[in-house]
This record gives sequence, structure tokens and C-alpha cells, in this order.
Amino acid sequence: MPQKTVKTPLSYKDVVIGDNAGDAIILALESSCDETACAIVKNGREVLSNIVASQIKTHMQFGGVVPEVAAREHLEAVNEVIAKAFEEANVKPEELTAIAATVGPGLVGSLLVGMNAAKTLSLVFDKPFIGINHLHAHVCANYIDTDLKPPFMALLISGGHTQIIKVSDYSDSEILGETIDDAAGEAFDKVARLLGLPYPGGYHLDKMAENGNPNAYKFTRAHVGEFDFSFSGLKTAVLQLTKKLAAENPDYNRADVAASFREHITGVLADKLLNACEKYGIKQVVLAGGVAANSEIRRKIKAFEEKGYKVYIPAMKYCTDNAAMIGSCAYFHEDVITDVGTEVFSRA
Ligand code: KG4
Ligand code: ZN
Repeated sequence: MPQKTVKTPLSYKDVVIGDNAGDAIILALESSCDETACAIVKNGREVLSNIVASQIKTHMQFGGVVPEVAAREHLEAVNEVIAKAFEEANVKPEELTAIAATVGPGLVGSLLVGMNAAKTLSLVFDKPFIGINHLHAHVCANYIDTDLKPPFMALLISGGHTQIIKVSDYSDSEILGETIDDAAGEAFDKVARLLGLPYPGGYHLDKMAENGNPNAYKFTRAHVGEFDFSFSGLKTAVLQLTKKLAAENPDYNRADVAASFREHITGVLADKLLNACEKYGIKQVVLAGGVAANSEIRRKIKAFEEKGYKVYIPAMKYCTDNAAMIGSCAYFHEDVITDVGTEVFSRA
């Protein structure tokens, strides 16, 4: 891994992070959507503390994330998660090497809370600030507690993104394909709502699908680019199906619909990932993003091992939004972004 040099904000001294540069202890903040999180991570792989304050209960009453409400909740939670992260790691501010925070993509009001808290700590303790791209960080979750090294192929599936990424080196990657409309997580959330499930939909749909028949209904695959995805037609197909079933019997078997939908979408994701690996001759795969918490996609990607692949799937707590992945990314990724960028308005 190459080294990178970052500057302290007050004394303007060089701080070197990377191989052969001594231990790097990084405090990281994440606040791009509806989790306020703080973690302290050593050398990109060892999590000393990982605190997450979830806003699920608040947004549940609205059926989804309300940006203004999310930003206010981050403000209320941020000091406490920072204090707990220091306490759990038993680390003092002076011992930190750098302070990192997500700067995009995400909800702008939410991002500003974490980034400004991190920049304040950076100034007060004269530690370098490292701004992080949330999507890079999801992929970096796979470095935690492992010995993963590039090259590898990543399937990034979150609430706002669905991408197949060829990662050639720690900071060198290429997006081979992505969704042209809904993201995988978005599709899970929308279908969950059709089935009357509460927010967060993907999680509840996954649970329901465990008791359903995955072959009860078949959906057609969208015709898009070799490694691209399209899920908006699928959502419409499920809408029509549920309307028809409800008209026949209001008490129709929702678990069968959930299982068939999950089977379809995870099948498309796994097949395209495999095709990308074969085309580029890459034998390591990693799964990333909130939808990587899905039981069926985990099973399908794990099964790549039978084909001789080395498979990395983050622990559940590092799939959905967390700050440990931000701390890992701050260590491994060369990019240092110092401000909230222009992509901030999209969902992470
Ligand atoms: O990465 P993430 O926590 O936030 C973003 O960066 O977007 O991903 C959130 C997405 C949501 O759409 C949520 O429904 C989905 O991940 N998700 C799941 C599961 N757990 C979370 N989708 C399917 N199955 C799950 N078990
Ligand atoms: Zn995320």
C-alpha cells in the first residue's frame, strides 16, 4: 500500500500514513444518511471502537428518511457517539494520527454535521482532517479484520448505488457497470412498502423472504449493458402482481412474493458479478453496502468459493452504514477530500 502525507491544520506538519510509517490510529465519523457513527480504527484493519446511533425509530413513523429530521438527530447524537468511541477504545485525543469523516455522497445537512464535528476535533487537537467518499468506504469495510489486498472485483449494493467495481489497487478502481434507475436497496425498500412492511424495508423483506417460496413467481430480467442494472421495471412488475393477488385474496401469501423478488434480484446481481470476474480474470470478490446484509446475496456470493474464488463479505455491522469503514478508508485510500463535494445531494 502506498503511503500518503497529510498536514496538521495548525502547525502544518507532515503526517505520513501507510506501510512502514508506524501505527496510524484514526477517529472516523459517518453521518451521510440516518446513522450517526463514530469509530476508532488502527492501521485500517483493527477496530478499537465502533459506535452507531441509529435513527430507525424516528424515521419509521414517516416510512422513510426525512432529511431535515435526520440532520437534527445527527446534531443531537454526534457528541455522545464521539465520547463513547474514545471511551470504548480507551484512546486519548492526543494519541490519534488523524480525524476522518464522510463528505459525500449523502444528505447535505446530515453530512455537514459529521464533517464539521470532525474538522472541529481536527483543529482543537491539531490532527490532519481526511474527507472520505462514502462509497469507497463501503468497499473498504472488507479490509477490516482480514488480509484482503487488491486486485479484486467488488459488488457495491447500497440504498442509492449499485455498482460492479474493478479494484486494481487501493486507490485505483474502475466502475464497470451500475444501475440506470433504482439502486438495489431502493428496490428492496419500495417492494417492502408494497408488501406493507415497515421501514427499513430491506431488512424486513429479507426476514419475510426466509419463509417464502423463491420459485413461486418469475420476473423477467431487464435488457441493459453487460454490467449495468435496471430495477424499476421489476418494481412495477411486483406492483402489478401484488394488486392482482390482493384482488383474488386480500390475505395472499406475501412471503412468496418477497422470496421470489429477492431470488430474482440477487440472481441478477450474482450473475453479473461472476461474468465480470470471468471477463477480467479476477479470482477475488468482495461484497459491500447495506444490501450486503441480505441473507440470500450473502449465500449466493459465498457459493463463488465452490468455483475457486476467494470471497470477502463484511460482518453485518460493517455492511450497513458505520464509521469503522470510514476509518479503514482513511488509511487505505489515497484520496483526501477536504470539503463536502458536489455529489452530496444524492442518497448514499
Ligand atoms: O449502505 P446503507 O446502510 O446506506 C446507504 O449508503 O444507502 O444501505 C441501506 C440500504 C437500504 O436500502 C436497506 O433497505 C438495505 O440497505 N438493506 C437491506 C438489508 N439490510 C439493509 N436490503 C436487503 N436485505 C437486507 N437484509
Ligand atoms: Zn452506505
